[in-house]
Amino acid sequence: ELDPLPALTSNFRRILDHVCMQCYEDLSPTAVEDKAREHICKDLEVFIKRDFKGARLRLFGSSKNGFGFKQSDLDICMTFDGIENSEELDCIKTIEDLARLLRKHQDLRNILPITSAKVPIVKFYHARSGLEGDISLYNTLALHNTQLLASYAAIDPRVKYLCYTMKIFTKICDIGDASRGSLSSYAYTLMVLFFLQQRNPPVIPVLQEIYTDNVKSEVPVDGWNAYFFSKLDELKTYWPEHGKNKESLGELWLGLLRYYTEDFDFKEHVICIRRKSLLTTFKKQWTSKYIVIEDPFDLNHNLGAGLSRKMTNFIMKAFVNGRLVFGTPVIEFPLEYPNIMEYF
Ligand code: CTP
Ligand code: MG
Repeated sequence: ELDPLPALTSNFRRILDHVCMQCYEDLSPTAVEDKAREHICKDLEVFIKRDFKGARLRLFGSSKNGFGFKQSDLDICMTFDGIENSEELDCIKTIEDLARLLRKHQDLRNILPITSAKVPIVKFYHARSGLEGDISLYNTLALHNTQLLASYAAIDPRVKYLCYTMKIFTKICDIGDASRGSLSSYAYTLMVLFFLQQRNPPVIPVLQEIYTDNVKSEVPVDGWNAYFFSKLDELKTYWPEHGKNKESLGELWLGLLRYYTEDFDFKEHVICIRRKSLLTTFKKQWTSKYIVIEDPFDLNHNLGAGLSRKMTNFIMKAFVNGRLVFGTPVIEFPLEYPNIMEYF
C-alpha cells in the first residue's frame, strides 16, 4: 500500500552515505571522553569500597558497546567479590545504603534511589562531566549483551554507522525513550543487527549460532545461555560469507527503512538476533503485540512488551516517513542544518 520509491541517483547515494557517516562523526565520544567514563567509574568504585567491602563497579551499555554518544548516560553495574548473584543480597537495602553514601561524594548531585523498579538502581548526576548515570546490582546479562553488541560492532564498520544513524533517527522522531512508552536504544540496536543478519548477502553473522567444536557451547548466566562466538580474528574460518556484502552505508540505511516498512511481517515474525531462521510470534506466544523484539539472552523478555497500540502506530509511521524522506532524492545536502544536539 506504500507508493513506490523513485530510483536512487548516484549523487543522492553519496549524500545518504555522507549523512549516515556524519551521525557517527558528530556524536561519538573521543578517546579522551571514553577514558573519562572509565575514570569516573574507577573513582566511584574507590569511593564506594570504603563502605562496601569487595565492591566492584563495571561500565556497560553504550559506554562499552560501541554505540555511545558523547552525552549517553553512564550505565554501571555493581557486584561484590565472593557473591555470585543478587539472591544472596538484600538489594533494596544495598541500593538505599549506596544512595546514602553517594550523597557524600563531592562530584555527585541528584542522588535518587529507585527501588520499586524490576531492576533497582541509584540514579545520579556527575557534575564535573555533566553526565547522568545509574548503578544497578548484578545486571549480569546486560554485561554479556554489551559484549555481544560490541562484537557485532567490531565485525564491520557499517554496523556502527547504521546503529548511530538509527539512534539519531529515533531521537529526532521522538520514538527512542523507553521511559516514555517507546523503545530503548538497545531495542533499536537489535532491530539494526537483525536487519543486517537477514540481508542477502548478510553483513553480519549470527554469533550465537557459530560453534568452533561442533558442540553447542553453554555459558550459563542467571538461568540463560549467554554463549556467543567471540574469536573474531578467526571469524572468516567459521563464517564464509564474511565480506560478501558490498552495499554502501546509504543503501543499507534505506534498505533498513524499506525492510521494516515493506518486507518484514511484524504480525508473523519476531525480531530475534540469536538465530538465522525466522522465529514466529506464534511459537513464542507473543501474538498480542505488533512489534516483538526478543532479547538475545533473556528469551522471556520481549522488548516491545511495553508498547501501547498508539505508540506502535506512531513508531511505524516514523519508519514510513523515514522511508519516504531518505528514499526521495534531493539535489544537494543542505550545508546548514539545525544543531543535532538540540534533539537530546
Ligand atoms: N538493557 C537491557 N535490557 C533492556 C534495556 C537495557 O539489557 N530492556 C541493557 C543493555 O545492555 C543496554 C544497557 O542496559 O545497552 C543500557 O541501556 P540504555 O542506557 O537504555 O541504552 P544504551 O545502550 O546505553 O544507549 P544510550 O546511549 O541511549 O544510553
Ligand atoms: Mg545508556
